[in-house]
Amino acid sequence: MLHDPNRVYVFDTTLRDGEQVPGCQLTTPEKIEIARELEALGVDIIEAGFPISSPGDFQSVVEISKAVKEPTVCALTRANKGDIDSAIEALKYAKHPRIHTGIGSSDMHIKYKFNSTREEILERAVEAVKYAKRGVEDIEFYAEDAGRADIEYLAKMIEAVIAAGATVVNIPDTNGYCLPNQYGDKIRFLKENVKNIDKAIISVHCHNDLGLATANSIQGLANGARQVEGTINGIGERAGNTSIEEVVMILKTHHSLGLHTNIQTQRIYDISRMVSTQMRMPVQPNKAIVGSNAFAHSSGIHQDGFLKMRENYEIIKPADVGFPNASIVLTARSGRAALNHHLERLGYKLDKEELAEAYHRFLTLADSKLDIQDEDLHGLVVNKLVSK
Ligand code: KIV
Ligand code: ZN
Repeated sequence: MLHDPNRVYVFDTTLRDGEQVPGCQLTTPEKIEIARELEALGVDIIEAGFPISSPGDFQSVVEISKAVKEPTVCALTRANKGDIDSAIEALKYAKHPRIHTGIGSSDMHIKYKFNSTREEILERAVEAVKYAKRGVEDIEFYAEDAGRADIEYLAKMIEAVIAAGATVVNIPDTNGYCLPNQYGDKIRFLKENVKNIDKAIISVHCHNDLGLATANSIQGLANGARQVEGTINGIGERAGNTSIEEVVMILKTHHSLGLHTNIQTQRIYDISRMVSTQMRMPVQPNKAIVGSNAFAHSSGIHQDGFLKMRENYEIIKPADVGFPNASIVLTARSGRAALNHHLERLGYKLDKEELAEAYHRFLTLADSKLDIQDEDLHGLVVNKLVSK
């Protein structure tokens, strides 16, 4: 089924799981704009929405299906006929449609969410896949709360839905509960114990409640999953979903994993800004890969090392993710090398003694001012010359 065993498929759910964040709802035109950018980014699957949830979401799935050509367009459903019929209808213009259906798999969900039994839930899972298969060939099954499910039961469920026709099996850590080794072991167990597992792609879908979504996704991929689900900037309800940009750049940086994606990484920064603006959800400055400080060097030791050779403190080139540039930020913790770098940028060539003097003045200024601007630097040098 897979041509390249090391290729990881990227499933973006910014417009579905991501959009569940309170206050981040998007209009259909906004969603289309993001979907087109996701297509240009090279994602393989766009989860466009949950059609039964509202007429607006239904329409968004229809319009996104018309707007993009390359990626698979996916619609979410619960395991019931009404949801699935609505998704089939919403996907009718999609060149590559996929239905994402599923049900709870942990005893907690089976008992307290569905008031049901393992046997009944297994039956409903199989029926949902078979029913969806009548309308769409490509069916992804999600075993909700798989992170807390009994592993033998989970394996049974996954085996049954593959036999029913599921092409992708999603193992969500819905509550962000697992440790990386636990999640990785789960994926390996399924890979080694489920009959016909190679007929389907295993997908990892992790939430970030303990800040482990990216680590868990990587561990899942390292243990045999070949699809990763996440959102741009890691947005999503509660603490969010796996950050797609983080997973992609980890795979690109760590060749030892031997895995790769189709993502055009130089487009990452632009789409991050677009999602942040449209969803009115600022990116935290220290966010990996896309935060405004992700490539900003501010302490003297780091700045000096960076100016000697960038790779001393830079494991990703900013241009590789479309980030404007690395920056040397001037603060009271900066050293002479950083000050000299900025003065040279402004056209000043100072000898050692002049630089020592300018640095002395600079520290006094930086202790009282958080944001050192070019005019401050001009002032430092001009004042010095005048006082000579
Ligand atoms: O987190 C989750 O379990 C989900 C499923 C609906 C795939 O988002
Ligand atoms: Zn989710």
